[in-house]
Amino acid sequence: MNDIFPNEFLWGGALSACQAEGAYDKEEKTLTIPDVMRFNPTDNRKVTKQPNITWEVIKEAKGDKDTIMYPKRRGINFYETYKDDIALFAEIGFKVFRYSISWARVFPNGNDEKPNEKALEFYDNIIDECLKHQIEPLITISHFDMPIVLIEKYGGWYNRKLIELYKKYCEVLFERYKGKVRYWVTFNEINMSIKAGAKTLGIINEGQSNFEEMLFQGLHHQFVAASSVTEIAHRIDPKNKIGSMVAYFTTYPHTCKPEDTLKAQQDDQMKNDFYLHVMVKGNYPYYALTYFKDNNINLSMTDEDFKIIKSNNADFIGSSYYNSMISSADDVNIELTNGNVHSVYKNPHLPANDWGWQIDPVGLRVTLNHIYNKYEIPIFILENSSGFHDVLNSDGTVDDPYRIDFLKQHIQQMGLAIKDGVNILGYTMWGPIDIISSSKSEMSKRYGFIYVDQDDYGNGSKKRYKKNSFYWYKDIIKTNGRTV
Ligand code: BG6
Repeated sequence: MNDIFPNEFLWGGALSACQAEGAYDKEEKTLTIPDVMRFNPTDNRKVTKQPNITWEVIKEAKGDKDTIMYPKRRGINFYETYKDDIALFAEIGFKVFRYSISWARVFPNGNDEKPNEKALEFYDNIIDECLKHQIEPLITISHFDMPIVLIEKYGGWYNRKLIELYKKYCEVLFERYKGKVRYWVTFNEINMSIKAGAKTLGIINEGQSNFEEMLFQGLHHQFVAASSVTEIAHRIDPKNKIGSMVAYFTTYPHTCKPEDTLKAQQDDQMKNDFYLHVMVKGNYPYYALTYFKDNNINLSMTDEDFKIIKSNNADFIGSSYYNSMISSADDVNIELTNGNVHSVYKNPHLPANDWGWQIDPVGLRVTLNHIYNKYEIPIFILENSSGFHDVLNSDGTVDDPYRIDFLKQHIQQMGLAIKDGVNILGYTMWGPIDIISSSKSEMSKRYGFIYVDQDDYGNGSKKRYKKNSFYWYKDIIKTNGRTV
């Protein structure tokens, strides 16, 4: 693809602290939701629901020091290996590395007066290491790692107090990394909140009759928090760029029946667009207000909240892209398959990976045009990839043509979207080094260009090996996408 990607295009990769770092209790860090999620081997092809986070789950996990059945507690030990791993990213030629900071490391008790200096030193090192290699650090402030103390002490995001605590946490980061970090993301995939409930909002389902209302209340607090810290970030350093982020699930009508199109539009509104609309346009869209009215959802929202949301819009849209969906107005008998968080109808036109996640490169172009058409602000593709089973050969090589094929097709579609006129800032593929899977807590679902010799139970040398895709992506970056 000749001369499609702008010279300043940010190629790179993205990881989260809770899937990579390990060291779950080092230097006073307290437990987070991922630290209490057990590895639960299941048939990957079967449509599965992730187990709920309940008080019993938390209680059991707190009394257990195990890192075998709680794999995210050990991650890939990035806490110790970050220097070598970042050097490998530099060797690929990364221009940007998206990484998250763990709130429970920085404020282990949630309401500490001062941040944990040791934790900040760790993140100083990561950021400095990136800068040493001329890699732009892009920081996610909260990536699916709700601190347990904030659930126990305050009931999670349902409590307005979380806004204040989050603001304090962000202010520490913005002050500390002023001049070093330019790009920030407030909440990873904020549109997962209602579906994931306890996992991202820290609101435990105890059978409350108004549980859905509680979730939307928690989400409202996150919106206010995100807008408030956008103001703080701009005040501390006008060069800061704050991104809202969603996992965009573009949805196709099952047939050309108008009712199916209407259903697809409605699904798109409440599953995807609502979140961007609040954070980019600065108000609640009409259809969300109607949904609240129809479902007896009464939120406590002050005039001050609306003012904050209105006046502090996101600077860019961050989006991950994994799979598309199908909407039908009828109760149709179509087979379901797994998707990211949602289980979805099988699309007969799409292949799928070993976990049933469907592969839809053209959907990425559709998604990018769809978002840009409405918002017309720059988009950063913050996650895109697919999990695959890899085999480490005895000579230390990994032949992964399926990964190259997946990424190639998606990058081509991203290039075509740029040609269509969409303004795209960069592309951080998900999981450039193998990490623990978010949904399944397993290691076998691998995303990386770099193979980590560790199995589902933590056995293995933990050594890193370059897969064939490592060299392929290196070439893509070197030629600024011309060879894709
Ligand atoms: C995204 C998350 O939704 O999906 C990542 O932001 C996650 O944290 C990714 O890893 C892929 O999901 P999984 O379950 O395959 O790890």
